[in-house]
Amino acid sequence: MPTLAERIRQVADLSVEESEHLRSLCSSWQVLADLSFSDLLLYVRREDGDEFQIVAQLRPLTSQTLYPTDMVGTRVTQPEQPIVERAFREGRVWRQDDPVLLDGIPIQMDAVPVRCDGKVIGVVTKEGSPATSRRPGRLEQVYLEAAGSLSEMIAEGLFPFIPLPEGDWPRVGEGLLVLGEEGVIRWASPNAISSLHRLGVSANILGRDVDGLGLGETPIGRAMRDQRISDGELARGDTFVRFRVVPLIEQRRSVGAVVLARDITEVRQKERVISVKDATIREIHHRVKNNLQTIASLLRLQGRRLSSEEARSALAESVLRVGSIALVHETLSEAPSELADFGDIARRISMMVSEGLVSPDQRIEIKVTGSTGPLGADIATPLAVTVTELIQNAVEHAFPDTRGGTINVELTREDEDVVAVVRDDGIGMKDEPVEGSRLGLQIVRSLIAELGGTVHITSDGGMRAEIRVPVTPAGSARR
Ligand SMILES: Nc1ncnc2c1ncn2[C@@H]1O[C@H](COP(=O)(O)OP(=O)(O)OP(=O)(O)O)[C@@H](O)[C@H]1O
Ligand SMILES: [Mg+2]
Repeated sequence: MPTLAERIRQVADLSVEESEHLRSLCSSWQVLADLSFSDLLLYVRREDGDEFQIVAQLRPLTSQTLYPTDMVGTRVTQPEQPIVERAFREGRVWRQDDPVLLDGIPIQMDAVPVRCDGKVIGVVTKEGSPATSRRPGRLEQVYLEAAGSLSEMIAEGLFPFIPLPEGDWPRVGEGLLVLGEEGVIRWASPNAISSLHRLGVSANILGRDVDGLGLGETPIGRAMRDQRISDGELARGDTFVRFRVVPLIEQRRSVGAVVLARDITEVRQKERVISVKDATIREIHHRVKNNLQTIASLLRLQGRRLSSEEARSALAESVLRVGSIALVHETLSEAPSELADFGDIARRISMMVSEGLVSPDQRIEIKVTGSTGPLGADIATPLAVTVTELIQNAVEHAFPDTRGGTINVELTREDEDVVAVVRDDGIGMKDEPVEGSRLGLQIVRSLIAELGGTVHITSDGGMRAEIRVPVTPAGSARR
């Protein structure tokens, strides 16, 4: 689907930069619609003739729309819309002298040329009905004056501001201050007054200088000084208010500003709850790890008291199995989210196994390469036990006597699978192991089957085990 800027270029003979200017205007112009209580229509001149075509439309949130239907795509000729053509040709704001009647309702219409780099590239019409705008009086007067300043800025090429700061625009209805020269507050909407109250400003603020309210450093002074749109945030206690300051510029001077304010206390509270939750989850992983390590050391103690070699080695293996699960929780307790890369876990496992099993006179090297991307505990835990078993097997069976060698653990993430290959350059497996008599590979097979994955073991020279487990894009088990 073409973007707005591309759609504009298909209709009108405009450069990339010019159509981008119109796109930026359309992401900034809600404030103009709301301050002027008007529908906005953006016209460009069609490259194939004298017609103008509407390429974008916006309805006001402060007043009733005059255009419940979609106007985009409509073409008009000069006699139908004389002031559009005039604004385009003469490059200045045209105001219709007398309201015209549309379906019996009087419509006031202004045409504002849109200038980019000195050239007029389109026209915005503001169409409102004085009869339908609900709130006459001081508010309407201040709003319309500010809208008038913004219109002149569009005609001068000073609005929209490019580049636009990130984040969406607070709405006029969420809180509005209109400032005059020197930052004197000319108007504050009830929502803006409440926000200021919560920030600790209780006095009457009309007619006062914003920077004298004791709010500390606001973006207002900066915006007016640098004649740039500026964002800022003020906080007091639990209250957070975000500001967007639009300087009003006339003849290269800042003559005031429109300040949109949004109370973002709730958003900040939610963020805080989430970060507390993250910390709690990490704390739980930490405790689980401690408990598993306690179990492992109890098993180790018990093993030392046994006389049967077989029983001792069975307990030693259990120590490693429990230890590998503890490593998953340890890694997750250090991760900033609930996910961890299995590469980190596998490296810890390889260290644990070489410390616990490899005797000092044997030269066995364990290498871990690659990564799996972030994985949740539901996959990382069975995978940790699996990799532990496979490394342990290689250490125990692949290198008899004092023969040395290398064990490689290679991790990759293919689109929908995590793949772990454990291979060694040892003697290889002579026969298929007798099912039932041995536990290690049986544990591997059942854990991986439970995740919906596959185990593929080959023995050609050394032994190679390939584990493949399907994962969701978020790094959890698919089943
Ligand atoms: N990397 C390897 N190289 C050579 N032989 C292997 C290798 N891995 C496994 N084997 C052979 O396969 C058999 C089965 O392995 P499995 O892990 O199931 O049992 P185990 O290691 O003997 O006992 P357990 O793991 O229960 O302590 C082993 O006894 C061994 O003979
Ligand atoms: Mg084994």
